[in-house]
Amino acid sequence: MNQAVAAVSEQRQWNRLMAMATIGAIADNGVNRACLTELDRQARRLLVGWAREIGASVSVDAAAILWLRREGTGPDAAPAVTGSHMDTQPNGGRFDGIYGVIAGLEVLTALHQAAEAPRRPIEVVAWTNEEGGRFAPGCMGSMSWSGYRPIDAFADVLDPDGIRFGDALAGQLDAEADLPRRPLGGQPLAYVEAHIEQGPRLEAEARDIGIVTGILGSRWFTVTLTGDTAHAGTTPLALRRDAVQDMVRAIGALNELMHDPDDVLRFTVGRIVVAPNTSNSVASRASFTIDFRHPDKNVLLARGDAVEHVVRRAVRHAGVSVQETFHALPVEFSPIVVDAVERAAVAQGCGCVRLPSGAFHDAQFVVPVCPTGMIFVPCRKGISHNPAEYSEPVQLAAGTRVLTQTLSELAS
Ligand code: GLV
Ligand code: MN
Ligand code: MN
Repeated sequence: MNQAVAAVSEQRQWNRLMAMATIGAIADNGVNRACLTELDRQARRLLVGWAREIGASVSVDAAAILWLRREGTGPDAAPAVTGSHMDTQPNGGRFDGIYGVIAGLEVLTALHQAAEAPRRPIEVVAWTNEEGGRFAPGCMGSMSWSGYRPIDAFADVLDPDGIRFGDALAGQLDAEADLPRRPLGGQPLAYVEAHIEQGPRLEAEARDIGIVTGILGSRWFTVTLTGDTAHAGTTPLALRRDAVQDMVRAIGALNELMHDPDDVLRFTVGRIVVAPNTSNSVASRASFTIDFRHPDKNVLLARGDAVEHVVRRAVRHAGVSVQETFHALPVEFSPIVVDAVERAAVAQGCGCVRLPSGAFHDAQFVVPVCPTGMIFVPCRKGISHNPAEYSEPVQLAAGTRVLTQTLSELAS
C-alpha cells in the first residue's frame, strides 16, 4: 500500500461529511441544499477552507464549477481529476454527490500528510447543478465544461419560484468574486468520480467496490396539457376539457409504451403541476415530467422519439406540448480508468464487481473529453434521493482508498 493510501482517514472523512450534512439539514437526517443558493455557498466556503488548510489552490470558472488543485512535480502536466457535486435533491440524503467531493479532498489531504507528490497535478471538482432539482436539467455544469451545451443556453431556465438560472449563476459568481477565476473547459489526463451506488446490488452481493463500466442513457421531457377550467359541480362531463383526465390517459398510454418485461427500462413521472389546483375546479392545465432511461441507445431513441405521438393519440380534449429538456446517450467508460480502478480494488483486497450506473452523473459528460470512470461504494438497501440514504464510514473509506490509489497511479 502506498503511503497516501495508508494516510486516508475514515474518521476525518466522516466528520467532514457530517459537517456538510448540517448545511441544509432537514428531518430524518436528510439534506436539502439546492444549487446556487446561500446554503450551497456556505458548503462551498467550508470546502474551500479545508482545501486551503492543506495548501491546495482554489478557483472557480464561468459556470461556477469549483476546483481544488494540488500541484505535481512535472511542469505543465495535464491533471488527473476527481470530484462530484455538492447540490442535493429537495428531499435528499447526506452522501449523494458530496461523498465524491469529500473523497477527492481526502485524497489531497492524504497526499499532503504523506508528503507525496505524483508527477501530475490532482484536481478535485465540484460540478454545478448536477441534480437538476432546482433548475432542470441536471449536469448543466459538466455539459458546459465539456462543450456539449454553452452555459448561456441555460440562462432562461426557471426554478419553481421563477428565478432564472442565469441570475442565480451571476449571484453565485458575485458572492465568490474573491476566488481566482479559471477558464471554463479543460483537457485532463483522466477523470475518476467516486459515488454511492444508489442501487441495491453491492450490498446484496456483499461487495466493497463497484467498478463502474458505463452509464445508462437518459431523456427528460416536460408534457403540458391545456384544457379549460370549469365548475366541478355544474359542468357536465361532456362539456369539459379536463387537463387532469387527459394527463391520466397520457400517462396510461406512456406506461404501455415503456413496458419492459425484463425490467431494464426506467420510466418515471416524478413531478406534476396542476392549475388552478383546487378540488372543485376542473383543471385547465396539467404538466408532468418524464424521466426515461435505458442502456441501449436504440431503445432510448426509438421509445423516446415515440413519446409525443403516444401522448397526442391518448389525449382527448387538451392541447398538447411536449418539450425534451435532457438527452444523454448511454456511455461506456474507458478501459484505462476502469482497469486502473479494478487493479487498485484488487490490490487492496476489496470484493468488487463491474456494473453499469442507472443514475446519471457528471462523468457522463466528461467521457468525450478524457478517459473517464467511476467508483461505487455500497449504500444501505440501495436507497438514495431520500433522507434515509446511508453508507457506513468504513465503506466510504474503502472507496476513498481505491480512489487514492487509482489517482496516484494515473498521475504518476
Ligand atoms: C442523478 O441524480 C440522477 O437522477 O440520476
Ligand atoms: Mn449524484
Ligand atoms: Mn442525485
